[in-house]
Amino acid sequence: MCNRPIGVFDSGLGGLTAVKQLHALMPDEDIIYFGDTGRVPYGNRSVETIKRYAAQDARFLLSHNVKMVIAACGTVSSNASVELSEMLSVPYINVIAPTAAAAVQATKNGKIGVIGTRATILSCAYKKALEEADSSLQVFQRECPLFVPLVEEGFISAQDPIARLTVERYLCGFKENGIDTIILGCTHYPILKPVIGEYAGRDVVLIDSGKETARRAAAVLEENNLLNKSGKPGECKFFVSDRTEGFSNIASIFLNSNIGESVSRVDIQKY
Ligand code: DGL
Repeated sequence: MCNRPIGVFDSGLGGLTAVKQLHALMPDEDIIYFGDTGRVPYGNRSVETIKRYAAQDARFLLSHNVKMVIAACGTVSSNASVELSEMLSVPYINVIAPTAAAAVQATKNGKIGVIGTRATILSCAYKKALEEADSSLQVFQRECPLFVPLVEEGFISAQDPIARLTVERYLCGFKENGIDTIILGCTHYPILKPVIGEYAGRDVVLIDSGKETARRAAAVLEENNLLNKSGKPGECKFFVSDRTEGFSNIASIFLNSNIGESVSRVDIQKY
């Protein structure tokens, strides 16, 4: 048993999709969340920059004595996981393996689509994980860079014309590959599930990287005897690297609960 908090980070709001699931699965756990809102998006940046940002984000979480670090970010997971697992002295979880495993389980025809940021798609991390699991799979990738700013701006409703047009523009022709499963390879994308789902059609399964990662984190904590069994409801503290106001509003919508004043600003360059 361990009462230290779980550390979760992302470039912005997307990692909250994992926080929501972590809280549902393990309501007693305290969570420290860092969203690098001052430097979002990561997905258009170089691999060197992503690695540097990820190391600072992880060091910030360690300064809060976390018992686990979760990179709730497809871009970081696919470009900086080797470095993060080498530098961390606590268990490190990324989104790639659990999400790929769920897609392998879900597909019936062996044709899987992966959508993500540019850096995620260029790394081919999901594609490699899927092909390692089953070399007969056919994997089709698409980068969708504008999905992250749509989510950060709150343009997320299935009725929002900008969200609908953007989804249509990026996913045009994608389904024609016969895909029956799509990995939402960026943790921001589950927020756009209603719009993506409507475009992809009911016969296509959408795999939520936040959800699968939370399940893996729970299993690793259990295996390592690190679960918090205090019986007290866990607390979530949020940190961002820029204005706190916009974050509180949209985060409360994502999490379905008012996070109020629990957001603080940090100077991430110090870490
Ligand atoms: N949530 C991040 C991801 O999963 C967004 C990346 C970005 O900042 O571009 O990739």
